[in-house]
Amino acid sequence: MLKRAARIAKFGTELAIRRPKGWKSVLYNTALAKAKIAGPLMLPAHISIEPTNACNARCPVCETGNRSMERKYGMLDEKAFQNFIDLNADTTAVLMYYFMGEPFLNSKSYDMIRYAREKDIYVETCTNGDILDAEGLIYSDINQISFQIGGLSPESHGVYRIRSNFDKITKNIEALVELRNKTPNSNVQIEIGFIVMKHNEHEVKDFISWANGIGADKANIVDPCVRDVEEGYKYLPENKQYWFYDEEAFEKGYLKPKKLSDNECTWVWNSAMINWDGSVVPCCRDPHGRHQFGNAFEQPFHEIWNGQGLTEFRNQIVTSIKDVDICKLCSGFGIPQLERSRPLNFEVQRMSFDTTPVELPDEIEEDLRRGQLQ
Ligand SMILES: C[S@@+](CC[C@H](N)C(=O)[O-])C[C@H]1O[C@@H](n2cnc3c(N)ncnc32)[C@H](O)[C@@H]1O
Ligand code: SF4
Ligand code: SF4
Repeated sequence: MLKRAARIAKFGTELAIRRPKGWKSVLYNTALAKAKIAGPLMLPAHISIEPTNACNARCPVCETGNRSMERKYGMLDEKAFQNFIDLNADTTAVLMYYFMGEPFLNSKSYDMIRYAREKDIYVETCTNGDILDAEGLIYSDINQISFQIGGLSPESHGVYRIRSNFDKITKNIEALVELRNKTPNSNVQIEIGFIVMKHNEHEVKDFISWANGIGADKANIVDPCVRDVEEGYKYLPENKQYWFYDEEAFEKGYLKPKKLSDNECTWVWNSAMINWDGSVVPCCRDPHGRHQFGNAFEQPFHEIWNGQGLTEFRNQIVTSIKDVDICKLCSGFGIPQLERSRPLNFEVQRMSFDTTPVELPDEIEEDLRRGQLQ
């Protein structure tokens, strides 16, 4: 408890000293989340916008990939996006330009990212990497891109990333690294995420070497999500280190996260999720759009953010999070990060509840010892 209080105090002090864009909102809204007060809140520093909910790939756990998506498929409209950015750029520090679907299927993505960058917004995205134009990406001036892979060979990758092309992704990453290195004013941070599953858990160490060798700035080891026990048996790794889920509950036939939130979610106090058609949902755990609180392209955003629907939703969280359908399998309750800068050297990070460090490949351990890596 004391450790947690010290961590929160450190987080607040650091923000107040550095004062990055959005710091007041993050401090204020996080304090209210910790005090279990539903609002009114300051406008959020973090916004996620969905470029499209369509995709070329067919990942079987993803609602887009397995075609169970209850929302209509469509593309974010450039004019609606620009209008939203014009009205909200002063308060938006970070734009997460992805949700369901493949961002670069939207042919206007490079222009929309650039538009947000010109309004002083930090922009990051996540992609399957199949259809990326390196020149377009450098032109967009994006800050961060994370390629997501499902294995280290076309066969292994294709077990989960169905219809995605490993060789094409590799070529696209190489082209982007090369162009970024030739473009001194590009700040783009290139990350590669490896979704650890039963079929690829033996490849984790080689993945880290591969990501380092190809010139990425960061390798992320991603714990897998599943939606039910049946999917769990199919995809969850043997090594329970990579599990978000409680093993005992799993054995009894249901899914429960290893860590449950204490009626608190700093995320939904600090961040809004906007679907391609402007509808606003609480977070990425609502892919079907079952909790919609208004339309950010049709009404002032502050009316939605502090409106009755989202306030009632936040009230449910602080009173009984266990009864909120989408929160039952939530895999993260962190405070969204505000200021980031490109790592000076190669970094490895786990996207997990588990803090056990991953075993690093020998050559990377050696470079770390010699101080050549962070
Ligand atoms: C729905 S995707 C949208 C972006 C893009 N299409 C992609 O796959 O990177 C958003 C995130 O979900 C992740 N993801 C998909 N299936 C997953 C799974 N079963 N477990 C953990 N993460 C998963 C992807 O790696 C990506 O980081
Ligand atoms: S690539 Fe992304 S959006 Fe497409 S099916 Fe896979 S996880 Fe879903
Ligand atoms: S699913 Fe998770 S992030 Fe979303 S509102 Fe619930 S606790 Fe917060």
